[in-house]
Amino acid sequence: MTGRVAGKKVFITGAAGGLGSAMARALVADGAVVSLADINHVGVQDLAAELNTGFGEGRAFAFPLDVTKEDQWIYALEEADAAMGGISVLVNNAGISRGGDIEQLSLDDWRLVMSVNVDSVFLGTKHALRYMRQNQPGSIVNVSSIAGLIAAHNSPAYNASKAAVWLLSKGIALHCAKQGLDIRSNSIHPTFIDTPILDPLRQRFGKQEAEAKLARQIPLGRIGEPADVANLVVYLASDESRFMTGAELKLDGGISAM
Ligand SMILES: NC(=O)c1ccc[n+]([C@@H]2O[C@H](COP(=O)([O-])OP(=O)(O)OC[C@H]3O[C@@H](n4cnc5c(N)ncnc54)[C@H](O)[C@@H]3O)[C@@H](O)[C@H]2O)c1
Repeated sequence: MTGRVAGKKVFITGAAGGLGSAMARALVADGAVVSLADINHVGVQDLAAELNTGFGEGRAFAFPLDVTKEDQWIYALEEADAAMGGISVLVNNAGISRGGDIEQLSLDDWRLVMSVNVDSVFLGTKHALRYMRQNQPGSIVNVSSIAGLIAAHNSPAYNASKAAVWLLSKGIALHCAKQGLDIRSNSIHPTFIDTPILDPLRQRFGKQEAEAKLARQIPLGRIGEPADVANLVVYLASDESRFMTGAELKLDGGISAM
């Protein structure tokens, strides 16, 4: 343990998933205490048990949370604050994608993606700031996507939702600064990372062909690993990034350099 985030009390949504679990492992390995929230309660309970076995009791707590439900946010944050003795970092990571171009996508799927990807950041930040004020310096990390900066022909809801997260992060940064709070807000923008979110593509083309197709679009020639994203989240959670706020950090293997 190097302790880059020692003393940080981190609340992570979507923590049972590919990126969320990698972030949790990296943060705990570097000294943080984490609250793991997910609609998949068993998944976060299992991960908390694994982390507490590996790093000692009291390093990880698990909470059920549907990030689209305000009452669940209020309850989960209150419980996490009590369990960790405060909240200093919020990672809004839960997110989903639904396929279909603008003519195919249903209104229900549009609303679902906007709700899980955007309402979550609004609700989480709105209610977590109350606790984060008491635990400065603080950091909010919003997981957008390179798809929030570069559009595709067939992901209108995902593109629009991740673009909303990008600018919402900047508005939150300016709000905190104006309030005189030492709480930063930044968005991160990964390209394709090897997690279950890519499973629909793998099912369509087969694992090898799907990953090769994606890799061909990336100058570095490969899809990313969850650890690539987790390393950035450790940096943003730590005080090493104390002068960075309202920024967008791209983890795209060079795609946006083209
Ligand atoms: N993997 C990639 O290629 C990639 C690239 C760019 C951005 N992202 C973003 O990273 C984030 C994490 O994605 P991932 O790749 O780990 O996907 P994942 O599918 O492995 O994990 C997503 C997690 O979110 C949870 N979740 C879904 N709906 C929820 C809800 N309503 N309330 C609470 N939790 C909910 C799921 O249970 C799951 O554990 C997402 O916001 C995604 O858009 C992923």
